[in-house]
Amino acid sequence: MSTVIAIANQKGGVGKTTTAVNLASFLAQPQSNKKTARVLVVDCDPQGHIGRSFAIDSNALEKTLYSALLGRCEPVEAIREVRANLDILPANRELAIGEIELREVINRERRLRQMLSKLSVYDYIIIDCPPGLNLLTINALAAAQIVLIPVSTWLALTGIGDLAEVLAELVREFNLNVTIYAVQTFFRSGVRESESLRERLKSDFGSNLLNSTINLNTAISTATAEGRPIIDYPNTAGYVDYARLAKEVATRVAKEDKASRKIRKG
Ligand SMILES: Nc1ncnc2c1ncn2[C@@H]1O[C@H](COP(=O)(O)OP(=O)(O)O)[C@@H](O)[C@H]1O
Ligand SMILES: [Mg+2]
Repeated sequence: MSTVIAIANQKGGVGKTTTAVNLASFLAQPQSNKKTARVLVVDCDPQGHIGRSFAIDSNALEKTLYSALLGRCEPVEAIREVRANLDILPANRELAIGEIELREVINRERRLRQMLSKLSVYDYIIIDCPPGLNLLTINALAAAQIVLIPVSTWLALTGIGDLAEVLAELVREFNLNVTIYAVQTFFRSGVRESESLRERLKSDFGSNLLNSTINLNTAISTATAEGRPIIDYPNTAGYVDYARLAKEVATRVAKEDKASRKIRKG
């Protein structure tokens, strides 16, 4: 079974797409002591930024998440390999129409979950959510075992209350088993706003606030503009931060798997 991680926050510009792309790239890196993970990034945002992050123009694509989600093609037909062990399932503006069409479909909140269950060859599936809380976000949350919330400023915190409410409702309705983590992005060490936000996040998320932070680093925006993940820019702060984040996420996932196996065994 794949570990499905949704990267969500109702605000735009908090580092969702950047985190999806870079977490995925580092998770797909060969490890000396274990089998290399196969990773898929699913773009749930009609802005299509996942394609762009790998220098692919998603608007030129015929088969995307839209066609796969509405059953017009098999998901594998829309998947593209971007790196070794790293594939993407891109989206484009058609997905905005898809969101409306989806409202009429049976089991509309669980379409993505059903679709991803066919893709168990992946060790990790990372879902990049759109800003806002629509049916696409709900599909992403309902498909995930882990929700990772990037938070950059106080402003980005304000929407999290609603996100938590929707999650709680989904957990009740679908009997889901999700763990919510937060990661602080655009961090500036020693800057009062960043430091006081960190304190606030610690008290809100407790041990589910990741120890890794993503510092503000211009190499990250350069990488985005050049259509490459930060893994292509070693010796940058962004590289170090995302490498550490991926390691922490993998460790936490492994711990949770172990705990849930124990519970199942009784
Ligand atoms: N840590 C960072 N330092 C500098 N720029 C960043 C950082 N994280 C993201 N960015 C840039 O900020 C912009 C918005 O990030 P993005 O991940 O697209 O946000 P979202 O998906 O939440 O809207 C992008 O141009 C990205 O390159
Ligand atoms: Mg985005």
